[in-house]
Amino acid sequence: MLKIANIVGARPNFMKIAPIHRRMQASEEFAPLLIHTGQHYDKKMSQTFFVDLGMPEPDMYLGVGSGSHAVQTASVMIAMEKILLEEKPDWIIVVGDVNSTLAASLAASKLHIPIAHIEAGLRSFDRAMPEEINRILTDSISDLLFVTEQSGLDNLKKEGVADEKVHFVGNVMIDSLVEHLQKAKESQILQELEIMPKRYILMTLHRPSNVDDKNNLENILTTLEVIQKELPIIFPIHPRTKKRIDEFGLADQVERMKNLRLVEPLGYLPFLRLMSESKLLLTDSGGIQEETTYLRVPCFTLRENTERPITAEIGTNRLVGMDRGAILKGFEEAMNGFFKDSKIPPLWDGHASERILETLIKQ
Ligand code: UD1
Repeated sequence: MLKIANIVGARPNFMKIAPIHRRMQASEEFAPLLIHTGQHYDKKMSQTFFVDLGMPEPDMYLGVGSGSHAVQTASVMIAMEKILLEEKPDWIIVVGDVNSTLAASLAASKLHIPIAHIEAGLRSFDRAMPEEINRILTDSISDLLFVTEQSGLDNLKKEGVADEKVHFVGNVMIDSLVEHLQKAKESQILQELEIMPKRYILMTLHRPSNVDDKNNLENILTTLEVIQKELPIIFPIHPRTKKRIDEFGLADQVERMKNLRLVEPLGYLPFLRLMSESKLLLTDSGGIQEETTYLRVPCFTLRENTERPITAEIGTNRLVGMDRGAILKGFEEAMNGFFKDSKIPPLWDGHASERILETLIKQ
């Protein structure tokens, strides 16, 4: 039996670990432990996801909470080292690119515990993004690198990672989506918000580059003034963004837009339902670019680059950056029913987690 420490910390980790952990629990080959660093701690950013995804309570909760990057990363490392020394897992599994991903990997690496990184090889080539540093460093100390798209294979090859460590398995986030789509249809969120399918826009915004800079945030809000006149915008607001709107004195501008509807962060199932019925998405999230590609819903990404280029190459994603003209032009086209053809990327088929477990057994 392989003893595996499955690590989660922040919201986008939960839907990636859920299918892995569930399959491991059902298998006789694995003894999985679920460890939550507590990077995200609000009920709506964390606990709700465990319920929606049918995940058990974590076996261990480190409770590190918020802080500067150094404080957060160091706190996870200190707490993680202690647990790894006690539990001595055969592997740790980390997902994505958040601070908890890197911190847990560093702690494991110094204890010579092998690391499997899911969603390896993605690169935005923008080192101003904290996630890019987390990706590069985590990949460089991982022993198994599970890749979601061709660009990941290409990037790791260029960085000199040995072929035998790298496995193209598809996308575990899509495993969760496929598994929960039917259940999400039962969500009453459209009725609760009194909106009709395809008659609203869904938006998320939380990247430091967009929301920690007053000019950028103001610029986005000004673009929204035009868009919300045509369709309501549902905006489940991230705690970071909410804080910045208040700090920068932009609350009045937000309130003036009657059709910009701020709601609390949503759970996995209502959000999936909202995404699947939305006319289009406006976002700076990584995962949403992938989910909308699978759902074939147009997605405008408010960033200059993406570490998930396949979503723009063959999926429904369109990188519009901060360019108001590009956003409004794309919006008008989408409103008129014009949007590029799209395909679902290879191996985004709901079975990535099975392939990951098979690979681990063979090690
Ligand atoms: C983190 C990830 C980002 C991911 C995002 C998803 C890093 C570097 N960033 O960013 O890649 O896309 O999660 O949400 O790991 N806060 C709360 N309640 C919470 C969590 C956070 O109020 O449950 C507030 C805190 O004031 C905190 C701020 O939000 O300072 C930012 O949280 P943090 O975990 O530092 O980064 P995110 O912006 O959430």
